Amino acid sequence: MSTTPPPLPVDLEAGLRRLRLGAMRQLSPELLVVAKTQRWQPEEFLRTLVEAEIASRDASNARGRMKTAAFPVSKTLDEFDVEASSVPRATFDYLASLEWITAKENLCMVGPAGTGKSHLLVALGHHAVEQGQRVRYFTATELVETLYRGLADNSVGRVIEQILKADLILIDEIGFAPMDDTGAQLFFRIVAAAYEQRSLGIGSHWPFEDWGRFLPEHTTAVSLLDRLLHHSVVVATSGESFRLKEARQRGGAQKLT
Ligand SMILES: Nc1ncnc2c1ncn2[C@@H]1O[C@H](COP(=O)(O)OP(=O)(O)OP(=O)(O)O)[C@@H](O)[C@H]1O
Ligand SMILES: [Mg+2]
Repeated sequence: MSTTPPPLPVDLEAGLRRLRLGAMRQLSPELLVVAKTQRWQPEEFLRTLVEAEIASRDASNARGRMKTAAFPVSKTLDEFDVEASSVPRATFDYLASLEWITAKENLCMVGPAGTGKSHLLVALGHHAVEQGQRVRYFTATELVETLYRGLADNSVGRVIEQILKADLILIDEIGFAPMDDTGAQLFFRIVAAAYEQRSLGIGSHWPFEDWGRFLPEHTTAVSLLDRLLHHSVVVATSGESFRLKEARQRGGAQKLT
C-alpha cells in the first residue's frame, strides 16, 4: 500500500490553482515522491506533468464539444454493422476517414425508416468530435425553431454565424414535418451560408425528387438541392427497418409483417 504523499507547498499549490493547471496540481505531490525516489531527470518530471495537463485539457475540450454537439442518442461507428446495411464498404470507409469534412463536402443520407441514417450521422459526428472537430446536431424542426427564435428578436444572422462555427452541421429528419414559407426560407439561408464553407450532413426519408412535397415552393426545393448536392456524398439506404428486424427477433413483430 502506498502512503499518502506530502501535500504541495502552499505557494506552489496556490500558483498552480491560479494558473488553472489542475491536472499538474493533482499529480504533483505523488509525482514529486516518485521522481525523488527513482532519481528522475528534471526534464522527465516536467514532461510528465506537462503531458498530464495536455491530456486533461484535450479530454475536457472533447467533453465540451460533445455536449455542444447535442446528439440525441449515443451511436458509434463501431456499433454500425456495415455488412448488414446497404451502405457500400468503400463509402463507409471514406465517410469514416472524415476527409469529406476537411474538403467541406456534404453527406446526404436518404432512405426509408430504420435503415441507419440517424445512426450513421450521429456516429460520424461522434467520431468527428473525438478527432477534434466541432459538430452540431439538429432535427430539421429544431433547426427551423432555432432560426425562428432568431427572427423574433432580430438575431437570425448571429444565430446562423453561431451555427456555422461548427465544422459539421447535421440536419436530420428533413421532411418529417412540412415547412411553412418562412421555415423553408430560413432552412435555405443556413444551407446557402454553409455552401462550400462548412460540411452539412443531412438525413431524410424523402427521395430528392419528392422534396417539393414538404417544401412550399418548387424553386426553393431546386435551389436548396442544387447547393446540397453540388459537393456531396449521397448515400441511399434501403432495405427493411432495423427496428422491425429487432422487434421480430424479440418475437414481437409478427403482427407487423
Ligand atoms: N447497419 C446498422 N448496424 C447496427 N445498427 C443499426 C444499423 N442500421 C440501423 N441500426 C439501428 O436501428 C435503429 C434505427 O436506425 P436509425 O435510427 O439510424 O434509422 P433511420 O434511418 O434514421 O430511420 P428514420 O427515418 O425513422 O429516422 C437504431 O437503433 C440503429 O442504431
Ligand atoms: Mg432517423
